[in-house]
Amino acid sequence: MDTIECILSRRSIRKYKSQPISGDVAQKLIEAGAAAPSAANQQPCHFIIIDDRDILNAIAKENPHAGMLANAPFAIAICFDSNPKPFPGLVIDDCSAAAENILLAANGLGFGSTWLGIHHDEVKQKNAKAALKLPDGVKIASIISVGIPDESPAAHSKIKPEMIHKNGW
Ligand SMILES: Cc1cc2nc3c(=O)[nH]c(=O)nc-3n(C[C@H](O)[C@H](O)[C@H](O)COP(=O)(O)O)c2cc1C
Repeated sequence: MDTIECILSRRSIRKYKSQPISGDVAQKLIEAGAAAPSAANQQPCHFIIIDDRDILNAIAKENPHAGMLANAPFAIAICFDSNPKPFPGLVIDDCSAAAENILLAANGLGFGSTWLGIHHDEVKQKNAKAALKLPDGVKIASIISVGIPDESPAAHSKIKPEMIHKNGW
């Protein structure tokens, strides 16, 4: 699959086959996440592989938008230390770049994934942090569910002519 095909064919996949996935895959996805650009190269992201069924179920139970975790073989929580960085205002941008890299790498390798937003919602943050027993200074930016796809939504073009401007609005 070439790069543009990988980007344009990516969809959020929320249904997974019940087959397990080798640990090498999580490692590769994290390598892709860590390779993302980072403001001033501050590299604030930490990656937690979650393959413990009880933890996945606990996060799914408390988050109405994360039900797929109950059927996902694993997930990756993208976390950051809330201690000041050179550019604290850009830490979420860094973690978001890592998240997109993971989604694209998963698609390129034939896996399905979905980005679950966590950092913006205090309740989701608190519950997922408790399930993962994270220390106070660590926050979750997002969680990426991963599995072998059991649905195949068609690629959808999102580009609209009115989105494109030239030399100004
Ligand atoms: C910041 C962010 C947060 C998201 N949070 C969730 C979520 O909590 N649960 C979920 O099922 N999908 C979540 N998504 C996935 C979007 O719903 C999905 O990208 C959107 O519907 C477009 O579909 P597509 O990814 O198949 O193109 C999130 C996506 C982003 C970028």
